[in-house]
Amino acid sequence: MKNFENLPDIFTFFDGEKVLTADDWERRRKELKDWFTENVFGCYPFGAEKGFTFSVDAVENSDRAIIKRISMHKGDYEGKFSLFLPPHVQNPPVLVYAILKNYEDKFDLSDVDNYEKTPSVTSLPLGVILDRGYAVAAYFVSAAAPDEPEGEKKGINSVLIKKQTSVSARAIAAWSFFAKRIADYLESENQVNAKKMGVLGHSRGGKTALYTAATDERFSFAFVSNSGCTGAAIARDNTGERLKDINYNFPHWFTQVYKSYSGKEEQLPVDFHMLVSLVAPRLLYVTSSTEDAWACPENEFASCRLASEVYSRIYGVKGLIADETPVADKAYHEGNLAYHIKTGKHSFDYYDWLKCLDFLDKKWK
Ligand code: GCU
Repeated sequence: MKNFENLPDIFTFFDGEKVLTADDWERRRKELKDWFTENVFGCYPFGAEKGFTFSVDAVENSDRAIIKRISMHKGDYEGKFSLFLPPHVQNPPVLVYAILKNYEDKFDLSDVDNYEKTPSVTSLPLGVILDRGYAVAAYFVSAAAPDEPEGEKKGINSVLIKKQTSVSARAIAAWSFFAKRIADYLESENQVNAKKMGVLGHSRGGKTALYTAATDERFSFAFVSNSGCTGAAIARDNTGERLKDINYNFPHWFTQVYKSYSGKEEQLPVDFHMLVSLVAPRLLYVTSSTEDAWACPENEFASCRLASEVYSRIYGVKGLIADETPVADKAYHEGNLAYHIKTGKHSFDYYDWLKCLDFLDKKWK
């Protein structure tokens, strides 16, 4: 594993106090959670999550899938998602998945067999996932906030945030907020097992999935694919994307405060192994790709290694059990923190899905 100099310590509070007990860790966890929200992803006004209503607008049936078209509402806001259920399984685990496109919700039944046509930069092999006994709740990120400059002011945020400030929730926070409202719905949906609820995403969706699981314990699993900068990758000594790149190219993703760290990674009072550690002791699967230097696989892996200490030291469970340097295409599934680096480019493809389902079968069945 790569060595980092001057990495802030997970087990030391900002004021220098040390984490000695499990109770201390719960306080430290809150300190970190608040820090990432207030400085990176952004905050919603108190009570923003309240007052949403849900309606099932249509139900489609075939022998491969039951599809429920659902919308959530608050004030003038309406956001759509689809729930795909395996018809042959009672109370399946359910995976919440963000599609990285600004499209309306328009999966149809043919997508269940024809996943390669899914309008996404990633594959969603619905037929395989359903056949293996998992349900999927999928949404397009634009249902929450469009992925475009100024997108942070639109969609759900336009209803919940009257005026954007330097710490207000921005686009990735909106995608995460939307996943959490899907979780609200799923908790009352008697056709799924909401105790086995996962959140999954690739790249910018991976950052979203990680932040979502870090801040909402109802998600007992997260799959974080090629999330890189401001996802699982340690920001210090990053040989790929830097804070100045991400803040410049995607001004709508993170808060104004976070922009003040552009070029100043060393001044962050945290690093991103701490975001990873917030998921402990729950199931977490982080992935990298060999040809994805921009996401800095070495820093993604090191992050998992360091976050693993929280699994073992605080919760007494196995975190990541892996070789010192991860071997390409070897899946490390033993502990609660899984990892693989696949041969290939920046993607969340069929291989990743199969490994994800293998891991869940092992841990959940
Ligand atoms: C860009 C961006 C990354 C992001 C990726 C993606 O490459 O720099 O931070 O993860 O897009 O979402 O595909």
